[in-house]
Amino acid sequence: MIILAVESSCDETSVAVVKDGKEVLSNIVLSQIDIHKIYGGVVPEIASRNHIAHITRVFEQALIDSKISVDDIDLVAVTRGPGLIGSLLVGINAASAFAFAHHKPLIGVNHLVGHLYAAGIEHEIKLPALALLVSGGHTELLYIKDHMDIKMIGTTLDDAVGEAYDKVARTLGLSYPGGPIVDQLAEQGMDAYHLPRPYLNDTFNFSFSGLKSAVINVVHNAKQRGEKININDMCASFQNSVLDVLISKTKHAAEIFDVKQIIIAGGVAANRGLRKRIFEEIKDIEIIIPSMKYCTDNAAMIGAAAFYQYQKEGPHPNYLLGGESTITFEKLSE
Ligand code: KG4
Ligand code: ZN
Repeated sequence: MIILAVESSCDETSVAVVKDGKEVLSNIVLSQIDIHKIYGGVVPEIASRNHIAHITRVFEQALIDSKISVDDIDLVAVTRGPGLIGSLLVGINAASAFAFAHHKPLIGVNHLVGHLYAAGIEHEIKLPALALLVSGGHTELLYIKDHMDIKMIGTTLDDAVGEAYDKVARTLGLSYPGGPIVDQLAEQGMDAYHLPRPYLNDTFNFSFSGLKSAVINVVHNAKQRGEKININDMCASFQNSVLDVLISKTKHAAEIFDVKQIIIAGGVAANRGLRKRIFEEIKDIEIIIPSMKYCTDNAAMIGAAAFYQYQKEGPHPNYLLGGESTITFEKLSE
């Protein structure tokens, strides 16, 4: 089954062609990071305008690179949310127009389900699995019982982990997006600042806002005393605190839920510290992580998820924006 997939939920305009949920025939990702960098974060209005300016070109390039003809496409899939509403609308309208003009079925895919299935492009997903989904907007521990049967075990009560990375980076005067820079500087620093580890009494929920405030306090106090912060050490201290919490909760949940596999997904799964430490600290369960290019937002992951969603529920197009989907993240009752 050949799926043409579209992703435009934030600041990446992306179109991909994916065969049978695994074989990526093309995956064009046009990042707007350089435009948003000067504002220190994504500006929604500017993001949607840029999607409009480039989406047709990205469609064309994805089709050319895939070497297929439009007749070969069996299904069109598009990110239905969560994301920036104006940005989502551009992808949804473009995908709908394409599907309508070429008489193809169209389905809407949850962005987070897309991040999960990014792991299935290069690896075989074995169920039941536990997923740690870490991105700019989400920090979730998910139990995947079967394809598209996903329950939430824990979530963040405040800031998402990627958001905390970006805010800490800004406090330290680093540019946007801060996650990759903090990750890189952390490698050259030491855990010298002894920041708190927000374990939250052993529940599977997360909280990163207190940790972020702890960094801000140390930086402000140092400024008032005229002292200098060692940026590399602060990045290492922050990253160590985040990873201690993420890894220990993931390990605990994997044991309790007796899963066959752990999936690490989302933009923060690109973190080199996380990718190294998780394999050192969890040895008895298989761990799969998408390669860097499939961790951050891209349309190939939407095409991969769409394949499994279509097997489960067929062409179910009527929930593109806001309507009901059969795929939900219900909180798992104890
Ligand atoms: O999944 P994603 O591309 O977009 C969302 O759906 O949010 O994730 C973007 C987030 C940003 O907060 C970025 O700083 C973070 O992922 N990120 C990282 C790294 N690479 C990207 N965070 C920590 N370490 C990294 N290497
Ligand atoms: Zn994302």
